[in-house]
Amino acid sequence: KKYNVAIVGATGAVGEAMISILEERKFPVDNVYALASERSAGKRIPFNGGSLSVQDLAEFDFSKADIGLFSAGASLSEGYAPKAAAAGCIVIDNTSQFRYDEDIPLIVPEVNPERIADYKTRGIIANPNCSTIQMLVALKPIYDAVGIERINVCTYQAVSGSGKEAIEEVVNQTAQLLNGKPVQAKVYPKQIAFNVLPQIDVFMENGYTKEEMKMVWETKKILGDDSILVNPTAVRVPVFYGHSEAIHIETRDKISVEKVREILAASPGITVMDERVDGGYPTAVTESSGNDDVFVGRIREDISHEKGIDLWVVADNVRKGAALNSVQIAEELVKNYI
Ligand code: A2P
Repeated sequence: KKYNVAIVGATGAVGEAMISILEERKFPVDNVYALASERSAGKRIPFNGGSLSVQDLAEFDFSKADIGLFSAGASLSEGYAPKAAAAGCIVIDNTSQFRYDEDIPLIVPEVNPERIADYKTRGIIANPNCSTIQMLVALKPIYDAVGIERINVCTYQAVSGSGKEAIEEVVNQTAQLLNGKPVQAKVYPKQIAFNVLPQIDVFMENGYTKEEMKMVWETKKILGDDSILVNPTAVRVPVFYGHSEAIHIETRDKISVEKVREILAASPGITVMDERVDGGYPTAVTESSGNDDVFVGRIREDISHEKGIDLWVVADNVRKGAALNSVQIAEELVKNYI
């Protein structure tokens, strides 16, 4: 069987990756509808040797699609996803709009694929935040083996997570700086080129940013574990593609570094790259960018905590953090549910 798939936000950083991943993975498509704003209507996007013509989202009839991959921002999902679902198009939403609704499943296929079944209530499945996805792919095998009580995590997040305008901002500011011109900041509150910003998304009342709280809420929901403690600091760095994370966990039972390496190496979606030599670890640019796996290195025992393990985890935020995870959810959906 083949499926009609609508891509909402097809001209964006994530939407473009969704289209090329459908092609790469030979997803069984009949028609692919590339949807964006009316500004982009008529643009062409290469697909399977031919090309797709971009259509105006506002004009699209969702009864023509079996599956909709949404990545055009939370406010557009708020309006269009329920409409699409009502028309019989199952929505896989990459925005934060529905992630915290109790009756909407939040899925990482390597972690909680069984919860996809819950899509039937509202016809919508939520794709988690990029930082949460790569963290949980790396931690789930350890969680299953020995339990995890607490996660302390610092992220080093690429600008592509903020969309195409943010990618251009780094390019423009870099050019401005190298030419001795004053820097203009539009997407981010401060200069991002050659800088590091300890703010992603808006501030919350408790002093954490919303990006940080997303990692807390989503981890509890995806693992189905309200007791797990998560303490994130989310940081934007001038990297184009690939998020890095320094993760410190406190496990319920003690686990050795050798055992962690062994179980991670045997888990789907993970590549362990952990040699204690110069360069014997993965980085965003040289390993994860353009690749599907979550890469793990720097695995070591925490010298400050009896049941502590430290890890360095990198993944392509646009692929595993967004587009690939959505397509993998769609693959599970067609394999087991529709
Ligand atoms: P467009 O290119 O026509 O503006 P990114 O996250 O990389 O900035 O991409 C955002 C995506 O969301 C783009 O595909 C963009 O289309 C789409 N988008 C933004 N606003 C609208 C809108 N009002 N209606 C439909 N699509 C939209």
